[in-house]
This record gives sequence, C-alpha cells and structure tokens, in this order.
Amino acid sequence: MFGKLFSRGSTQPTQPGDFSVLGIDMHSHLIPGIDDGAETVEESLELIRGLIHLGYSGAITTPHVMGDYYPNTGTIIQNGWEELRRAIHQAGLTFRLEASAEYHLDSFTAELFAKGEILPMPGKRVLVELSFFGAPPDLETRIFELRLQGYFPILAHPERYSYYLGNLAALERICDLGCDLQVNILSLTGHYGPPVAKWAKTLLDKNMVSYLGTDMHNARHLKELQAALQQKDILRILQRHTFKNQDLLN
Ligand SMILES: [Fe+2]
Repeated sequence: MFGKLFSRGSTQPTQPGDFSVLGIDMHSHLIPGIDDGAETVEESLELIRGLIHLGYSGAITTPHVMGDYYPNTGTIIQNGWEELRRAIHQAGLTFRLEASAEYHLDSFTAELFAKGEILPMPGKRVLVELSFFGAPPDLETRIFELRLQGYFPILAHPERYSYYLGNLAALERICDLGCDLQVNILSLTGHYGPPVAKWAKTLLDKNMVSYLGTDMHNARHLKELQAALQQKDILRILQRHTFKNQDLLN
C-alpha cells in the first residue's frame, strides 16, 4: 500500500496561506461509506479536491475502526481505498492517497492488534483514539502492549478529550510511554469551543504535538479548514512549529 513513494522531496518551505508546509494530511475519513466520513465517491472526490486546494500533496486516510460502530477490517478498508484511488485517477487529480485507520482502543482492536490484522502507517505508526467519555482504565497497558508489538502509536486529538483538559501531566505520561500526539487543525480554530482551542495551543507551546491532522469528515469541515487559512494565528503556528506529517511518507 505504501510501496511507491510520492517524490515530494524534503519538507517544503511555508507557502503563506495554505497547508503545504505539512506536505500530507494524516487523519481523515475519505473512504466512502465505511464510517461517519464521506458517504459517496463523489463526496470523497470533493473533499480530495479541497485538500489539494488547501495545499496538501497527499493523505493517509484513516477510517474509524471501532468494535461497536465501525468494525472495519483491513480488507474492507483496502477495497474502499482501491476504488477511491481509481476514482482519483479517472478524475485526473494529482493526489497521493494511502490508507491506514484510526483505531479506537477497545477490545475489538485489541484482538486485531494481537492477530496482526492492522494497516499501519509507514514505520509501523498507528493512529489511535479513545472514548470521549473516559480513557480505558488499562490505557497504559494498551500503549505498552502496542510498543511491545512494535507499533508506534499516535494519539488522535488529545485536546478533545474533556477528561484530559488542562491535565498536562496525564498527556506527558502518555508521551513518555512512547505515544506521539496529533492535534486537529479545527481544534485550533475554535470549532470544538474556546477551551479546546486554548488547550491545543498550550500543547503546541509545550512542544508536545508531533502531527497536525484535518480529521476531515465532510464538506462542512472542508469549509472550516478553508476559513482557517484566513486566521493569522493558524498561519503563525504553521510557520513556527515543525510537524512530522511529511515524515510519514518519506
Ligand atoms: Fe478521526
């Protein structure tokens, strides 16, 4: 799936006014009909055209894998990914699309990891998410197990978990266990409320954020990402911080 690398070269200099400095997006829901993201191929293509206009050269898209709601297998994701890649080609778009997943840390994904039925990003990095109601009591063990299995977890949108809001020590502990953090761009714009925006910026100031993701599900998110580029503080963040998005496909 990651065999042929996009020859983008090293990280591009910041282009004022877009996200090209990030190179690729590494958190989105673009494969149609398998989670709460794009519903049709047409919608997927609309979102991908939007990503291109935002300055991205490609994306590793990450459908939810969650026992209760989206029990997506590697085969389901790969079939959807291949269909979408054909559609991108037929539409004449220049955009590298790869596929991984956003693994909810529940018993369903614990089994997938134990069996090795995982679609990791290059370098065996895996995007993981937690319940919005509370972290699993065995979170540290889960992260430890992932590391033992050779994976490098990336925690999706830690700024959005209300039980971690303001709890720097908890997130530092997660980082210390070998888990990187990924913040949503829309968290920085205030899309999830001012406290989340402030907390996300604090995490950036503490240099705890390795990746920025769109977590784009739909056209409304796309519009808000376009609007984000009108915000000076977002552009300043892109200029001042270094993110590892591009490394995922190098
Ligand atoms: Fe997501």
